[in-house]
Formats: sequence, C-alpha cells, structure tokens
Amino acid sequence: MSLQLKPLHHWFAAQASGLDLTQPPSDADLRAINAAMNRYAVLVFRGQPLTAQQQIAFTSKFGPLDIGLKRVFKRPERLEDERLIDISNVDAQGHVAQRDSPKNLSNFANQLWHSDSSFMNPRAAYSMLHCLIKPSWGGNTEFADLRHAYDSLDERTKADIQNLKAEHFALHTRILLGDEAYTDEQKKAIPPAVWPLADTHPGSGRKVLFVGVHARQILGWPTAESRIFLSDLLEHATRPENVYAHEWEPGDLVIWDNRSTLHRGRRYDLAERRELRRTTINDTPEAMLMAA
Ligand code: OGA
Ligand code: MN
Repeated sequence: MSLQLKPLHHWFAAQASGLDLTQPPSDADLRAINAAMNRYAVLVFRGQPLTAQQQIAFTSKFGPLDIGLKRVFKRPERLEDERLIDISNVDAQGHVAQRDSPKNLSNFANQLWHSDSSFMNPRAAYSMLHCLIKPSWGGNTEFADLRHAYDSLDERTKADIQNLKAEHFALHTRILLGDEAYTDEQKKAIPPAVWPLADTHPGSGRKVLFVGVHARQILGWPTAESRIFLSDLLEHATRPENVYAHEWEPGDLVIWDNRSTLHRGRRYDLAERRELRRTTINDTPEAMLMAA
C-alpha cells in the first residue's frame, strides 16, 4: 500500500492512511510523507498501535531526535527512553499527577499556542504525538497554519514584519503561568533563540508568520510595543478559521511541522488520565526534510 491523503481542513491538515507505521518505512514512503508534510503541515494517522521503540524507530528515519528542555531540567521521568517526551498528567511513579504538580505546569504551558522548541537553535522540525489514553472529555490538540496566517496578513503588516526578528525564550511561558522560581544560572543555561517573524519554510518555499507564545521580544523594539504586536500577530494566526482541532483516539499518531504550524492542548479533567508520547526531530541539515 502507499500513502493516501484526505484533507481535514480547507487549506491544511490531512488524514493519512495506507501505511503501517509499526514497520520501517521505505525510502518512497519517506518521500511521500515529506511531500505530504510540505503540502498539509499536519498529518493524522489513525489506528497505529506503536510501541515506544517503534515510534522512536519511525521518527529517527526523518532525522536526529530532539529531547527539548530535558537537557537542562533533569527531572525524574516515567518513560525509560529519554528520546520519548511524556505528554501526560502521570507522575514518575505512574499515578495521576497532583493538580499543582510540576508535571501539570508543563501541561498548562502546552495549552498556550506554541511551536515546539522554538526557543532553541536548531529548533524542532517535525513532532510526532501518539495517543495511548484519552480523557472522557476535552483534551483535544489544536493546530494553526502559519503559512495561511502569513498569506492572509494585510499588505501593510506584511511589509512591517519583513525584516523583524523575534527572540523566543524557554521560560517565558513558565513565567507567564506564575512560575518564577528560576535561578539566574538556570536562565543562562537556556539562552533565547532568534527567528525571523516573516520566515520561509524550507520544504515548501512558502512564507510563514513565525509567532507563538515563546516569542517574547522583537529585537530592537520597546518591550511593551513589541509584546502588543506579537500578541496581535498571534491572534491573527490562530483565528478559528485557521485552526484544525484534533479529537484523539488511542492509536492516533499526529505529525506536525513546527516551522509552519502552531499547536496547543485544550483543557480536560486533570483527575482523569491522559497519556500521549511525543518524539521530535531537530531542524538540522541531516534531517531528511528536503527529500520530497
Ligand atoms: C506537545 C503538545 C499538546 C497536547 O506534545 O508538544 O504541545 O494536547 N501537546 O498535549
Ligand atoms: Mn508542543
């Protein structure tokens, strides 16, 4: 079988079928997935019962894996393999985490519109999120298309952002959520990354409006003016018509491109278990992203 696609939204996101992701993909499959990612930016595979190692093996075909902030914050982890990012409300002992736990703090940060690891250089290219257990209510993941966000800017704003760069800082979301307990040393360990606001997506050549909640400052601008403009641009990028909302089923694998989309988790009952596993590849020259 080969990759089949069915659009899930007017201009991005598609349901993908025809491949068994528990098996190693062929080069032709990889090229087809990359081409589909360049076109749709979000792909939804249903009914893929991946083990942790199968997910890692599949993801590794696309490039070197990224472990995000784990490099800096060494915390007790539930999942053995550090290349898996535990997107769950379950603590290291396997219990549903306390409402006010550090685990839930990161989950709340994931409920703000963001691009994974945009505060690092290299940043993340693809993220792959696999659902194991979903709560009985809520907990969708929403995606916004940054290519359409760019294309639909008014001409004046497009011109205004052409040469602007924004600084993306890892702790900005944590600080927004009231978690200020970081030492200067910890802050220094994660220097901000800088990306153009009007960026070009390497795989498709399309322009993107590269915003998100990690962006805290436009270089050379006064802070207040820069934060208002960034929040205006984020509001534009995430207008309801530019959003695809994914309703999870166990066995789903959703792949998104962090350079051309934003995403956020939605609220659910924290007393119920929600378990997903993420693998992410870094946007490095080795990544097989141009293969299409
Ligand atoms: C992620 C993420 C949102 C969610 O896995 O990177 O932001 O719905 N997840 O859990
Ligand atoms: Mn994320």
